[in-house]
Amino acid sequence: MTDILLGQVLSFAGDPFAEGPDAARHESHGAVMVENGKIAAVGPADQIRSAYPQAKITDYGQCLISAGFIDGHVHYPQTAIIASWGKRLIDWLNSYTFPEEMRFADRAYADEVANRYLDLALAHGTTSMCSYATIHPDSVDAFFTAAQSRGLRAFAGKTCMDRNAPEGLRDTVQSGYDDSKRLLQRWHGVDRLSYVITPRFSPTSTPEQLAAMGQLWREHPTCLMQTHLSEQVDEIAWVKELFPQSRDYLDTYEAQGLLREGAVYGHAIHLTGREKDRLIEAGASLVHCPTSNTFIGSGLFDMSLAQHLRVGLATDTGGGSSFSMLHTMAAAYEIGQLRGQALHPSQLWWLATVGSARALHAEHQIGNIAPGMEADLTILDLASTPAIAQAISRAADIWQAIFPTIMLGDDRAIRATWISGQLH
Ligand code: GUN
Ligand code: ZN
Repeated sequence: MTDILLGQVLSFAGDPFAEGPDAARHESHGAVMVENGKIAAVGPADQIRSAYPQAKITDYGQCLISAGFIDGHVHYPQTAIIASWGKRLIDWLNSYTFPEEMRFADRAYADEVANRYLDLALAHGTTSMCSYATIHPDSVDAFFTAAQSRGLRAFAGKTCMDRNAPEGLRDTVQSGYDDSKRLLQRWHGVDRLSYVITPRFSPTSTPEQLAAMGQLWREHPTCLMQTHLSEQVDEIAWVKELFPQSRDYLDTYEAQGLLREGAVYGHAIHLTGREKDRLIEAGASLVHCPTSNTFIGSGLFDMSLAQHLRVGLATDTGGGSSFSMLHTMAAAYEIGQLRGQALHPSQLWWLATVGSARALHAEHQIGNIAPGMEADLTILDLASTPAIAQAISRAADIWQAIFPTIMLGDDRAIRATWISGQLH
């Protein structure tokens, strides 16, 4: 089956952090040709249509055809506690997160939330994500089963914690290793799914558990490893108490074999010079979670790092306050403003697509529109509400037409999603 989607097509030929907005490609009367789950051609509508006269046409008019959004860091088990009031990180974990994650001992509840989360993600135009599960192996099975049934490219892992978490939410060095390994062998590379080795963060893992995660990663080097790094000042002080022998927060991971290419660190806000240098040298990925960083009161990410290493964008639901990568781009813009770094719409869009794909080492499969890429597409109405429609009435170029949707848009802007070449 060959499909042609018509609309305005936005893609990237380069990195707008290096090359500016010219790195983007905009085709105002464009077409994307999709065949066998992949993008087969992209270009001006007339040209693509006459080259493939047999194809089935879906005309999205003035809508924008983009690569689907990629959420680089999310906790699907926190779906139900999004927008919980008034706490900062450690208190927030103890008051809201841990009691909710405890409920995932029940497989039926895990299935219910996994399905609800993925429905919400897709409704917001997010077609791939990298999620934490809970400590329960079943919570990983629930997520991957739900992602597999939707045909998604998805990343996830069992959250490992062997200390500083309540009874019922702790594993051990041995069980954390064994359960992770079993899940990895069950799911990694099955269909479009990838297992991610997932120690939650240094405060909830002993050095021995971090070492076991490092060992597992050496045995399975094609996996990603995800964790949290330097999110909040109190957390960093706690890490210093727990790891008196470490040079800094990053060193608690580095010392146990958890720093190299394929390491994906969420937040990474309050970094020392040494930490930045080592992250760059090691080729690590960082994931910026802007709605979370303002909601939990964590701090302002330094986007100048995007010139030096792989940076992705993420909701961090439910620490983050939205399921929408549009809201997330808006929050990244506002944090940039507070740091004197006005991010261009091309940079924001790139972070939510190519940037997150690169952070997850999946940029050859997802995150862009080009021949050979997997056909995960999000179609956006750029005039989805009266407020946005009036704001774009005088737009002089594509970025002026897109920016109001970034700042004011939500799931109403998502006209359709295509997963692996199929309309969802
Ligand atoms: N640090 C450790 N666990 C978490 C979590 O679940 N959410 C956030 N935002 N930070 C964390
Ligand atoms: Zn997180």
